[in-house]
This record gives sequence, structure tokens and C-alpha cells, in this order.
Amino acid sequence: MSGGAETFRAAAAHDRHVGRYAQQPASALIAFAGIEPGMRALDVGCGPGALTVALADRLGAANVSAADPSEPFIEACRQRSPGVNVVVAAAEALPFKSTEFEATLSQLVVNFMQDAQAGVREMARVTQPGGVVASSVWDYAGEMTLLRAFWDAARDVEPERGAAADEGVVMRWCRDGELAELWRAAGLRDVSSGALTVRASYADFEDLWSPFPTGVAPSGAFCKSLNDERRVALHDAYRQRLGVGDGPFELTARAWAVAGTVATG
Ligand SMILES: C[S@@+](CC[C@H](N)C(=O)[O-])C[C@H]1O[C@@H](n2cnc3c(N)ncnc32)[C@H](O)[C@@H]1O
Repeated sequence: MSGGAETFRAAAAHDRHVGRYAQQPASALIAFAGIEPGMRALDVGCGPGALTVALADRLGAANVSAADPSEPFIEACRQRSPGVNVVVAAAEALPFKSTEFEATLSQLVVNFMQDAQAGVREMARVTQPGGVVASSVWDYAGEMTLLRAFWDAARDVEPERGAAADEGVVMRWCRDGELAELWRAAGLRDVSSGALTVRASYADFEDLWSPFPTGVAPSGAFCKSLNDERRVALHDAYRQRLGVGDGPFELTARAWAVAGTVATG
């Protein structure tokens, strides 16, 4: 895939969907991981660049690298973070030397890796001894309200297909403590975990709904796969589950965060 209109469609739909929440967890993850000026940092699975931009603001663009396997997202990230070294690559095979960074982060990515254990080991490999490896994942099964209510509505209208696609079920690393397990299994030390709660504002329900029919993210892909009649049923069930309508409202979203250090000896 190349840049151009597709890039902006993909990035714009993401921004209106879960990307609406991406800025606040980025700042929260940077604080949780103890990122300080002077560090060199890598953002793995950078997407359109919410965490990359926040890291560049804190550390200076020249001290930040970013990687993602999606070319449209990479294009968008390059546009948003001039001066950052942004490369097309998956977590499982990072094109960086060992111990190149003092901090390696990923925001809302571990569940999308083909092999999360290999991805986290790679994150540790490119981080120097004593450096930090940190991540966050949505609490899909609990208090990520946008997605939890979506999948509950999907299960109302399409019980079998909804249950099979529910991210609260299919995402392997989305419950309290699971990221910490993964971090310890990758050999990371001093592992700490916590909750990051953020919020987003909507003009009305249609503002929230508009990215779903574009097919963005697993929830959008499920929405797009329905015929018109089922999609209207999903729309109505979702609106009812959220208990919102034609006026403005806010939703909260919880992410689980983890941080650990690379062994020194
Ligand atoms: C939910 S998005 C998060 C994007 C960004 N970190 C943010 O916070 O907005 C998940 C990202 O993971 C990326 N991804 C998918 N498979 C990956 C892999 N194997 N390694 C690294 N990133 C991957 C996707 O391309 C997408 O950009």
C-alpha cells in the first residue's frame, strides 16, 4: 500500500475511532514508564503516531524512532512527527541494533502482534541493560466503554458471530496482570503494572458511530461485514447500550499498563 488518499482515510478513521483516546494514554504511559529528557526511545506499533508525537515532544524528534508494519499508518506518522526515524517493521523483527534505546514503548499494540512473546523479547533486545520496556493494552473485557458496549451490542444482534469476534474474548492480553506475566516471561525485571483511565468527548451518537462502517479496527471490520439491515440493528442496539443520543457526552476508557527493566548482568 502507498500513501495518498488511502493513508489519510485510514488515519482519519482511526483518529475518529479509538484514536480519539490515544493522546491521553500516551502522556500517561510516558509518565508511568519514567521517560526523561536525554533518553533515546522507540515506539513499537506506532500507528498514526499518537505516542511518537508525545515522545518527540518530550525527548526531541532526533532521539525518537518508531516502527509499524502498516504503510498507511507509517505515512501518517511521518507527516505528524517530522525528524523522527519512522520505519516499516513488525515488533517481532525490529531493524535496530541490540541495546540501541534507553526506552522501548508500545501503546495498545501487544494484542495485534503475531507473536507477542517474540515481540516483547525484541523490544527488550533493542533496549540497553537497565533501560525500560513499557506497554499498555485496552481493558477490552471491562472498562474500555466504547468497545465493551460495541461488542455487547454486537452479541445482542448477532449472538454467535458477535461472541466469536468480541475483543474482550479474543484479545489474549487484556486482563489485569496479564501483561506483567508476559513481561516476566520475557526476562524483564522490576515489573510494575497499573491502570490508566482516560476520557473522550462526542458531539452525539452519530459522531461516535461514523468510523465503524468504514471497517477500521476489529470492531469496524465486524460492522462493515454486516448487511444493511443488521448494521442498522447494531447501530440501534449500540446506542441503547450506551444510553446516549443526540446531545454531547463523554466516555471513559481504561487501559492496563506495564513497565519493566532490562537485566543488567
Ligand atoms: C490499536 S493500533 C495502536 C496504534 C498506536 N500505537 C496508537 O496508540 O494510536 C495497533 C497498531 O499495531 C500495529 N501492529 C499490528 N501488528 C503489529 C506487529 N506485529 N508489530 C507491531 N505493530 C503491529 C498496527 O498496524 C496498528 O498501528
